[in-house]
Amino acid sequence: TVSTAITTSTVSTTTISPGPWSDVRLPTYLVPYHYVVDLQPNLEPDSTGKYWFNGTSEVQFQVANSTRFIYIHSNKLEYDDVYLADESGAAISIAQWWLYDMNQFLIVELDAELVQGQNYSLHTQFKGELADDLTGLYRSTYTDINGKDVIIAISQMQPTDARKSFPCFDEPAFKATFKIFLWHKDPNYALSNMPFVITEERYGGWKRTEFEPTLRMSTYLLAFVVSEFGYEQSFTSGTPPVQVAETRIYARPEQVLNHNVEYAKNITPVILDYYESYFGVDYPLPKSDQIAVPDFALGGMENWGLVMYRETALLFDAAINSAYSKQRVARVIAHELSHQWFGDLITPLWWDELWLNEGFATFIEYIGTDYVEPGFRMMDQFVLYDLHDALTVDALTTSRPIIAENVTTPDDINALFDDISYSKGGCFIRMISEFAGEEAFKLGLKNYLEEFSYGLVDHNQLFSYWEEAILATNPKNNPPENFKADMDTWVNQMGYPVVTMKQNLDNPLMMEVLQERFLLDPKADPTLPESPYNYRWTIPFWYIIEGDTEKSFFWLRKETDLSMVYPNGKYVIGNYEAFGYYRVNYDDANWNAIINQLSRNFSAINVKSRSQIIDDALTLARFVKICYEIALKTTKFLRDDYDFLPWQSALRVLSYLDDMLGRSEAYGCSLKPVPNSQILLVMFKVTNTFQPFFHCPLSMNRQQRGSTINTACSYGSIDCIEHAQTLFHTWMADPSNNTISPNLRDAVYCQAVANGGSDEWDFIWGRYQTEGDSHEKSALQSALACTKQLWIIQRYLEYTLDSTLVRNQDAYSVYVGLCGNDYARDLTWDFLRREWDYIYEVYGSGFFRINSIIEGCTSRFSTEFELKELETFKESRSDQLGTGARSVDQALELTKTNIQWRTDYEDTVFSWLNETMSG
Ligand SMILES: *[C@@H]1O[C@H](CO)[C@@H](O)[C@H](O)[C@H]1NC(C)=O
Ligand SMILES: *[C@@H]1O[C@H](CO)[C@@H](O)[C@H](O)[C@H]1NC(C)=O
Ligand SMILES: *[C@@H]1O[C@H](CO)[C@@H](O)[C@H](O)[C@H]1NC(C)=O
Ligand SMILES: *[C@@H]1O[C@H](CO)[C@@H](O)[C@H](O)[C@H]1NC(C)=O
Ligand SMILES: *[C@@H]1O[C@H](CO)[C@@H](O)[C@H](O)[C@H]1NC(C)=O
Ligand SMILES: *[C@@H]1O[C@H](CO)[C@@H](O)[C@H](O)[C@H]1NC(C)=O
Ligand SMILES: *[C@@H]1O[C@H](CO)[C@@H](O)[C@H](O)[C@H]1NC(C)=O
Ligand SMILES: [Zn+2]
Repeated sequence: TVSTAITTSTVSTTTISPGPWSDVRLPTYLVPYHYVVDLQPNLEPDSTGKYWFNGTSEVQFQVANSTRFIYIHSNKLEYDDVYLADESGAAISIAQWWLYDMNQFLIVELDAELVQGQNYSLHTQFKGELADDLTGLYRSTYTDINGKDVIIAISQMQPTDARKSFPCFDEPAFKATFKIFLWHKDPNYALSNMPFVITEERYGGWKRTEFEPTLRMSTYLLAFVVSEFGYEQSFTSGTPPVQVAETRIYARPEQVLNHNVEYAKNITPVILDYYESYFGVDYPLPKSDQIAVPDFALGGMENWGLVMYRETALLFDAAINSAYSKQRVARVIAHELSHQWFGDLITPLWWDELWLNEGFATFIEYIGTDYVEPGFRMMDQFVLYDLHDALTVDALTTSRPIIAENVTTPDDINALFDDISYSKGGCFIRMISEFAGEEAFKLGLKNYLEEFSYGLVDHNQLFSYWEEAILATNPKNNPPENFKADMDTWVNQMGYPVVTMKQNLDNPLMMEVLQERFLLDPKADPTLPESPYNYRWTIPFWYIIEGDTEKSFFWLRKETDLSMVYPNGKYVIGNYEAFGYYRVNYDDANWNAIINQLSRNFSAINVKSRSQIIDDALTLARFVKICYEIALKTTKFLRDDYDFLPWQSALRVLSYLDDMLGRSEAYGCSLKPVPNSQILLVMFKVTNTFQPFFHCPLSMNRQQRGSTINTACSYGSIDCIEHAQTLFHTWMADPSNNTISPNLRDAVYCQAVANGGSDEWDFIWGRYQTEGDSHEKSALQSALACTKQLWIIQRYLEYTLDSTLVRNQDAYSVYVGLCGNDYARDLTWDFLRREWDYIYEVYGSGFFRINSIIEGCTSRFSTEFELKELETFKESRSDQLGTGARSVDQALELTKTNIQWRTDYEDTVFSWLNETMSG
């Protein structure tokens, strides 16, 4: 089908007057169905030190409406040739073609209209830079075991960078099949989404590998690798008629030799097998490769059949890595593998429904990890890592609905990779799974996956399949009246409700249950921005009354409901087991009844609820819903309860008080011990809870122990610090023999640096530069941010500008680490603003990173001065906020509420603490 005819083409770089191409979205009348892409990444630099790739591509498409223009995405590519052929191979005459950079289009204008219903193929020859920018087809460098620098080619397409590798219709709805060829030289070989067919010798030492054509898929899921990585393999069980899939784990050769791929090798096929049975839909590819990349912008990327990971998200060495690292690896693998169905097999029509990918992957990752590691208690941990995160950002008026509005540009798209798509999406799906029941939940998903395999979806389809399944399975809870309309209240408006349960004053035998929008800022107008549902939700409401063995359920649709009897003398707990995406408040009598139960026998209350009660109480206190005295009392039972869940919740909400009060002078002067940690010291005094940190009961798993010891040290336990320093100096004296337990390394390294000087810092820095194990390297990097020496902080910041010292993929977490350090925050914030051009260039258009930087560095702002600074920053950099624009607005809102909090509560809370201290 490939024509040999070449038409003359002209390159026009002059500005083209506005036309239909000024719309950033592709027109729908060109429908691609097959590509042939041949790429040659050159891993040797040219005479100026730059690296390049070149290639050819052919895209076959059908013309649904006759047109004289072809629009196709292209970014940072230079073309040698562009020609068009009809289905017989005959050349079609091109009037001119040009690059419309503004919308990343290659536009081909034809002399005559293309005929409706006919197929054509567009052929191009192009080249692009193989930069180290972590996007599109890019290069990554690492030092091998012999100290030699090795360069590999790797790719990251999501969401809009496939167009940086070859011209393509780069929107998820334009699914097609892809025939890929990759060039490489020994000792390298190539990988892509599908298994290879054949590798042929070409001229000059080059070889070319041909891959099997892909199944129908979106461009953002393509993946290319040229490397000399090693691998280990295993297989899924493939009970007939399901085919066996080969599961290989690829990594740098020394990582494989060191058996660091072992853990991933063991769990990958087990998770795939489990998902096949859980979803009731087979994994459709003959292989599933997981590859650990030395430079990778994200944690993992779900490319179909060739999943990429940051090294810390795939590799694990039981001898030197912590239990937390192991959990991270399992979680990321479980997350990416769930995308092989949610995202890869079925794909949202457009990015505004990204939650259909990320919400599912977030929820399913817990299910997958729980299956391979039941000891991790993943289903409980959801509350800490996703529910509480989502409830925090979604309480701002600058949040957004799950289904985003006005998403068009790459910046708009990148900005959607946030806590709303991931965590809120996951919470919403988890809430549905609980009221629908597992049977209906799974049945709905199976039918939805089967119906739309290789196709496109939106939430209406998902909702209708669940509705059908709920009616078919006759669940325990009464079904929603109109599933779609009821669920729309959760996805089409931002925020969430707080449900209040209190005795009705007019009718004291009855309990009043009412809902209102929850906002962190008590002075914000709760009706803004306008919502089609006026901030009312259809709430699946669970509760338990003292003595009940199972939770009860009803739908709360209206503003108020009066159908519950007031359980006189007994406590009631709403959102029991924390499956709901809302908070619950009570009258004082009930709060006190709950607090009494917690002190009498906390284990009578489910552990997820213990965690939720603390988070609700201390957050509601911030919102003037209850007084701090009651809220703080909900933490008293922690004296006896050593469970990770309520402890982590308490530390998280109390650190807010710590951050706010720690900045108050009166407070800092009167209570000596350690700056900025008074609130926890008070807590420890009140509850005498230092004890468990040192006498960990056996019931705590290793991860909990590492985390709690870390906390004791960072909140200033002298014993803990001295112990850490001793361990660290033993290691410094004999650097080849590190005997510090992997679970304690984060804490020990950090304390040694925080309480040491340049010797300790330089020792860690030296190890950091040469460390081959990625988890260890990451522990070292975090420790470097713990220093209190201003000149060392300044120097560390300068180092982040040099990617040979700190990789670009890591620098953002250095900033976040430093901003978490009271001694470094101001310097870091000054530095970031000064170097914003650089920060913007490196992180501006990527996802996640810029948001983490802004959130991490501004979350403690609580003065008018800081607010002014932030406002000035927003103004002066308004065109350089990229995907971080919403984060800056959220930071402004949060700073205002913090200022308000300090005006309203600082004195009250302080005197309560002062009394408790002296009492
Ligand atoms: C094709 O053109 C017709 C008439 O102008 C229009 O109604 C239709 O939406 C177009 N189809 C596509 C896919 O653009
Ligand atoms: C890349 O460019 C070289 C030199 O022009 C050419 O020989 C080679 O065929 C090109 N590779 C591909 C895949 O088009
Ligand atoms: C165009 O290609 C599509 C997809 O391969 C095919 O179904 C269709 O029959 C082709 N149309 C023509 C006119 O050849
Ligand atoms: C989306 O765009 C419309 C039309 O420009 C505008 O009225 C609306 O406020 C925008 N919505 C958001 C959330 O920005
Ligand atoms: C505490 O509650 C649990 C669960 O209800 C019960 O098994 C246990 O016996 C109670 N302990 C005491 C001391 O009452
Ligand atoms: C490492 O240090 C520990 C404790 O200091 C010691 O017992 C052990 O023999 C040392 N191992 C090596 C290989 O030096
Ligand atoms: C703390 O309480 C003591 C009495 O218990 C009182 O003398 C002191 O003024 C209080 N400090 C502050 C800052 O309120
Ligand atoms: Zn994901």
